[in-house]
Amino acid sequence: MRYKAVIFDLDGVVCYTDEYHYGAWKTLADKLGVPFDRSFNDRLRGVSRKESLRLILERYTGPALTDAEQDALAEEKNTLYRRFLHQMTPADLPPEVKRTLDALRQAGFKLAIGSSSKNTPLILARIGLTGFFDAVADGNCITRSKPDPEVFLTAAAMMGEEPQHCLVVEDAVSGAQAGHAGGFSVACVGAAARDGAGDYNILSIIDLVGILEQL
Ligand code: BG6
Ligand code: MG
Repeated sequence: MRYKAVIFDLDGVVCYTDEYHYGAWKTLADKLGVPFDRSFNDRLRGVSRKESLRLILERYTGPALTDAEQDALAEEKNTLYRRFLHQMTPADLPPEVKRTLDALRQAGFKLAIGSSSKNTPLILARIGLTGFFDAVADGNCITRSKPDPEVFLTAAAMMGEEPQHCLVVEDAVSGAQAGHAGGFSVACVGAAARDGAGDYNILSIIDLVGILEQL
């Protein structure tokens, strides 16, 4: 078998918290008078909170902001975002994701999370997946966010697997780039699949089961 482990991005792959990121950034961008649409939002997928704010502020034309003011804006976005997260329940684990995770576990794959988000532990708790994964590498244990491969290399090392034996699953172009930079194969869903960024570009996460069974 070519792959022994699967490393899942979290936001936009395991659950649809990418919509909450969009809602929170949109509120902040509107307040700052910065044009913000879904296509611009796709550029924020996979990148850290700080880098996302930097990209938004590239379009900002108001009075100069101090570092402290920028930190406060990032904090404000996170507060808005976490308000959504606290409303999540295990019903927010999409059925196709649950079926995929169960089928891959049953087939003997090691399963991990590789996410830039510092909110990963909260999200996993809300959707009932605390303790489910063999490894969780997230924004709390890395210094460089995607497209740097650090988070995926960390997840692979936690599982004791080499990158060539792991498949990364991503919805972000930056995440697909991170996977490739680390020597991983990448399966993409959503925005990254529409861009053809993966080695496998799939319509639904459940398609992974067929792909991995055939290899
Ligand atoms: C990634 C998201 O998973 O996490 C990005 O795709 C987000 O949009 C990044 O900026 C950091 O998330 P958080 O929860 O630490 O602000
Ligand atoms: Mg994502």
